[in-house]
Amino acid sequence: MVKLNIIYASEMGTAMDVADRTEAIAKEKGVDVIQFGMDSVSMNDLQTMNKLLIITSTTGDGDLPMMGEEFWNELLESELDLSATEYSVCALGDSSHHDFCGAGKKVDARLEELGAKKVLDRQECDGDTEGSEEWAELSMEKLGVI
Ligand SMILES: Cc1cc2nc3c(=O)[nH]c(=O)nc-3n(C[C@H](O)[C@H](O)[C@H](O)COP(=O)(O)O)c2cc1C
Repeated sequence: MVKLNIIYASEMGTAMDVADRTEAIAKEKGVDVIQFGMDSVSMNDLQTMNKLLIITSTTGDGDLPMMGEEFWNELLESELDLSATEYSVCALGDSSHHDFCGAGKKVDARLEELGAKKVLDRQECDGDTEGSEEWAELSMEKLGVI
């Protein structure tokens, strides 16, 4: 069975809750799923993840949560070929901030630059998690894991 990889980065726990819920939905559907905090994922690991869901909130001014900083810096510097990767991003933010969902937007753009194939447009959650469950389910369909 193809493995579904979930990578999340969260500052206050909301994106982590979305990752947990996404993992639970996958398990309910019999998907072989594994979840990682962004701080535990190396570029070598990333290269092996062919089916990928990224869930990240935004902190500071359009920045990744602290647990995602190293991953982001490495992703920016890397020249990985991610053409075997299919993915979608769920970005959490709040539109009262200048750079709405900035972290999710920049990770999404960089994955595309490195050749990864976006199977579903980015979900942007504004101040809550509305839409994230629908995004999770539809992403799994588009990734072909359910
Ligand atoms: C200090 C701080 C900075 C934030 N900066 C941004 C931002 O630049 N852009 C944005 O869209 N949301 C921003 N947010 C909103 C959070 O991304 C949003 O509340 C999110 O749901 C938090 O998820 P988390 O609990 O997983 O960290 C900020 C929140 C805080 C507390």
